[in-house]
Amino acid sequence: MEKYRIAGGNRLHGEVEISGAKNAAVAIIPAALMVDGICRIENLPQISDTVTLLHILESLGAGVKMINPSTVEIDSRHATWKGADYDRMRKIRASYYLVGAMLSRFGVARTTMPGGCNFGVRPIDQHVKGMNALGATVDVTDYIDAKAIHGRLRGAEIYLDKVSVGATMNIILAATLAEGRTIIENAAREPHIVDLANFLNSMGADVRGAGTDTVKINGVDRLHGGTYAIIPDQIEAGTYMAATAACGGEVLITNVIPKHLDCISAKLREMGVTVEEYPESVLVRSSGRLRRANVKTLPYPGFPTDMQPQMGVALAVADGTSVITEGVWDNRYKYVNQLRKMGAQFQVDGRVAVVEGVERLHGATVEACDLRAGAALVIAGLCADGVTTVEDIEYIERGYQDLVGKLQALGADIRIVDEPEHSERLNANAG
Ligand code: EPZ
Repeated sequence: MEKYRIAGGNRLHGEVEISGAKNAAVAIIPAALMVDGICRIENLPQISDTVTLLHILESLGAGVKMINPSTVEIDSRHATWKGADYDRMRKIRASYYLVGAMLSRFGVARTTMPGGCNFGVRPIDQHVKGMNALGATVDVTDYIDAKAIHGRLRGAEIYLDKVSVGATMNIILAATLAEGRTIIENAAREPHIVDLANFLNSMGADVRGAGTDTVKINGVDRLHGGTYAIIPDQIEAGTYMAATAACGGEVLITNVIPKHLDCISAKLREMGVTVEEYPESVLVRSSGRLRRANVKTLPYPGFPTDMQPQMGVALAVADGTSVITEGVWDNRYKYVNQLRKMGAQFQVDGRVAVVEGVERLHGATVEACDLRAGAALVIAGLCADGVTTVEDIEYIERGYQDLVGKLQALGADIRIVDEPEHSERLNANAG
């Protein structure tokens, strides 16, 4: 079983290049299914979620050709909605984007219920509401089966009851090849929504207003091939910013859009970290001694929930008492139990966590319980005294390209070790 072994205490120094945005890529790959031509996607992050999605597209009959590790060409001209690799679909959350894309392209969709990170109930009622409004029946069992009643979807006005990234993107996908105009009100505004719209528009779609809370989609008859580069990953960049803040040091984070990092930069400055912005990079400088702060996560442009655990670690070693309020998910504090093993002091009550900063964390064996929780535990290990072992790293590898290599280049003492599980070790000793 592969794990990360981290000897903590090193400051981080140097330069790290950010990869393409995971949460844009996982919608853009399914969108490629709708393109009647060859679609070239650049700046694709090399993570297990994108590999899984590319395999799923192949199982649907699309041609998938890696031009280099971060560029893929997808030819979906001969794809069908049948034959999908359902075992792979079950592993990822973003499989729900295949519903919108398949309905748009084929008028029919069949996917599994989404898998992925588990932090409480993750309903899809807003996705279903959107598909229904566009004229599709949706049956949710172990699978999601959807069908356009009239063969092709029809544009509609949809007011989302909840600001949902996934529902906004899924409805955009479904409406792109629908007949007529769709308006999504109370839409989410995350950078990856703008990126999906830009991708679709570059292939001939007519999506307007992405990045605001009203998105208008004029359905088109077909999308043509083209080339598109995915935006840099806001959360990967934020993770290196939080790591530098907690460990101390000076790191230039390149291939970023600084505007997307504004709320993270502002919070870190409040905590005593220097963040300098350049056109496509940010320089983060930290003494390693941080000031307390309160963090409340909200949909974009608020502080991202996907940075809450990483920032939680920085606050765990800050001077004073901080309050974190999770404004998006019901249960995103699972990492706290693991952090407590390292000496962190958190009190959690529902969506609120009160963090008493400690001078130092100490090494321990901890489990990554989801992607960002895993990233947070890596940061904790990097700034702790002694050795930390992070288990269940497959969660982390779903969303961070070459985390170990990038951290090593910054001077961190982190490596992958392959060790049997505890019970296997005992058996081996007994033998
Ligand atoms: C996306 O999840 C991201 N995943 C998540 O990132 C991220 O945490 C989340 O957006 C919020 O920013 C992907 O892009 C693949 P939502 P998504 O629909 O789309 C409720 C990561 O670590 N809701 O915006 O599933 C829901 O329960 C991952 O990279 C409904 O009530 O999130 C939540 O409270 C983890 N009904 C809130 O809305 C619905 O139909 C926001 O969820 C849909 C959502």
